[in-house]
Formats: sequence, C-alpha cells, structure tokens
Amino acid sequence: DASALLDTFGRTATDLRISLTDRCNLRCTYCMPAEGLPFLPPPALLTRDEITRLARIAVTEFGVRQIRFTGGEPLLRKDLVEIVRDVASLDPRPEISLTTNAIGLASRAQALADAGLDRINVSLDSVHPETFAAITRRPFLSRVLAGIDAVSAAGLVQTKINTVLMPGINDDQAVELLEWALAGGHQLRFIEQMALDADHTWARDTMITAAQIRERLGTRYLLTPDDAPRDGAPAELFQVRELTEGNEGRMLGLVGIIASVSEPFCADCRRTRLTAEGGVRSCLFSHEETDLLGPMRSGAPDAVVADLWRAAMWGKPAGHEMNAVGFAQPERTMSAIGG
Ligand code: GTP
Ligand code: 5AD
Ligand code: SF4
Repeated sequence: DASALLDTFGRTATDLRISLTDRCNLRCTYCMPAEGLPFLPPPALLTRDEITRLARIAVTEFGVRQIRFTGGEPLLRKDLVEIVRDVASLDPRPEISLTTNAIGLASRAQALADAGLDRINVSLDSVHPETFAAITRRPFLSRVLAGIDAVSAAGLVQTKINTVLMPGINDDQAVELLEWALAGGHQLRFIEQMALDADHTWARDTMITAAQIRERLGTRYLLTPDDAPRDGAPAELFQVRELTEGNEGRMLGLVGIIASVSEPFCADCRRTRLTAEGGVRSCLFSHEETDLLGPMRSGAPDAVVADLWRAAMWGKPAGHEMNAVGFAQPERTMSAIGG
C-alpha cells in the first residue's frame, strides 16, 4: 500500500505514539534531569484540534490502527479527556491507549474510559516509598497506587505496569514487584533501561539485561514462553507458575520482558512518533525530526502534511545502536522525545 508509512527496510508503521506534553510531575533519573528541562511554552504544543487532525491523517491515509498518548506525563494535559473523545470518533476508530505515571488518574480514569480510552500502561519502578522517591525524586507513591486502583474500577482492560530495572537501585526488587503485580491482576513488564537518561550514566556493561531478569525471577517462579503471537509487540511474554518440585505449579499470570537493548526488536518495529511540538520522529534514536506543526499553522493541506510525514518515515533508521562500540547517546532525553 503506497499510501502507508513505509521505510527503506521494508517496515510499515501502524502504531502511532503522540506525546501530549514534555512536562512531567516526576523526575525519573532515567528520563529527565532533577532540575527539569527548558519546557515548551504552551503555544508551541500541538492543540487538541491539531492532534485530532494528525490522528485522522494517520488513520485514514496511512492505515494506522493504534494510537498511544504519552508524554512527558499526558495526564498533565487538561484537555486529555476531550482529545481521547475526538480521536475515538475517527473512522475507522483506532485502538486508543495511554502511557502514564498514574498521578491524578484516580479522579479521571472513569471519564477517560467513558471517552473511549481502551488501555492504560502505568510506569512504576518500585512499591517501596523510599526506592520510589529515589528513582522519581518525588514522594508520590501513594498517589500512583491510588491511580492504578482506579483503572480497575473504571472497567478498563487490565493495566500493564512498566518497570525499568536499574543496577543497585531496584534490581533486587524484581521478584517482589512481580508478586505485587500478580496479586493485583496486572501484567508487569520489566524493561531494559535505554540510554536516554539526562545524566548519561547508562552503560551497556552495567545495565540489567533480560537474561539477568529471567534468572532473578527464576529463583522464585517457573517461566515458560507464552505461545500467543508476538506481532511486533516489544514485550516477550512468559507464563508464570509456582516453582514446585515434581509437578507443574499453578499458573499465576503473565510477565513481560522488554529487551530493547540485548534482544532488539527494531527489525519488526511498527512505530511512528509525534513529539509534543508536532515533529515526526521515525525512531526513538533518529537524529532528525520533521516539523509538521509549522506547515500546518501556515495552511498546508492534509496531502502536504501526509507527504512530509511519509518522507520522514522513509528515512527511518534500521534501529538503535546501543550495542555498537562507540555508541553516542542522543542529547534529547526520553521525556523530550516522548515516552
Ligand atoms: P503495548 O501496546 O501495551 O504493548 O504498549 P508498549 O509496550 O508499546 O508501550 P509503552 O508505552 O508501555 O512502552 C513500554 C516500553 O517500551 C517503554 O518503557 C520503553 O522502554 C519501550 N519503548 C517504547 N517505545 C519504544 C520504541 O519506540 N523503541 C524501543 N526500542 N523501545 C520503546
Ligand atoms: N529506558 C527505558 N524505558 C524508559 N522509560 C523512560 N525512560 C526510559 C529509559 N531510559 C519508560 C518509562 C515509561 C515508558 C514510556 O518509557 O518507564 O514506562
Ligand atoms: Fe523502533 Fe527505533 Fe525503537 Fe528500534 S529503537 S524499536 S527502530 S523506534
């Protein structure tokens, strides 16, 4: 399909991630510096109508089927519920999801579900208040937990929890986190930390790898690969069972491992991203961005915007180079690129 978002490596982007703001109310060490960043002034952000317009182009011109709102922290957008409602009214209707830290979710989960939000992924790296505060530099664990509880109450599909493991910080809590998630009926995904932190402390030889995560979890659980097709999803899923001698233990749930670094899935990547200021990024690690906001605000018609977007995706790199000798970390942090 020539109108789709193709690249020179034969991939087609069918998943769109839209960053709604570069601001956040946490300061996770792997994502943002303690002092924050020079945040975008409000007029530089995509408006609700611009977001809906770009989502419509993606759905009708490119065949995009999934739209995920990210940030920064997307709940900081006062018009989030309205944005979800607008995008849910597109034809064909995309699947709509949100990646959030869950602060403030308790009071908005029901409205978001009613507006058409299908799924929520929550970032949570520890259920210990001290570890949580050390990683996020904010003492807000209880608000996050209240937000997670509200998701279940709003009748949204099971929440996924995203946990980035860091050496010496929370890697010793992997088993405990999984226990907590299984008890709450959440699908936990452990994530390899990527080199997108502000302080450039990431190092390939000290990061916690998928193999190490499987080994840790294996001290307490029996993990077996889940046979459902992976379908380009970043997480590899495992069935979790009790470790019992002799017989197969009871199935407790699923756990995911997102091995972006040690087992990259770039060859099967289906993503296109929009930054909060309306730039197309073909990859988390691409060196350039293609501005769509400027052209839109100077009156460019849909066909021109679509062509710019297609051209940006055509230049999508093969993948990241975090395993390459001499890999140079991008200047932009995760929060500025869009999670
Ligand atoms: P699902 O549709 O629920 O599977 O969502 P998702 O896993 O694609 O999205 P989510 O926002 O929950 O991201 C989970 C993790 O995937 C993040 O914590 C990142 O570490 C990683 N991730 C997100 N986007 C990208 C990407 O474009 N490339 C790579 N390599 N990793 C990404
Ligand atoms: N490496 C891996 N994941 C990261 N996230 C933010 N920064 C990084 C990083 N450097 C995750 C957050 C959130 C998701 C959008 O991205 O934990 O769940
Ligand atoms: Fe896709 Fe780039 Fe992420 Fe690889 S690093 S999965 S190519 S966005």
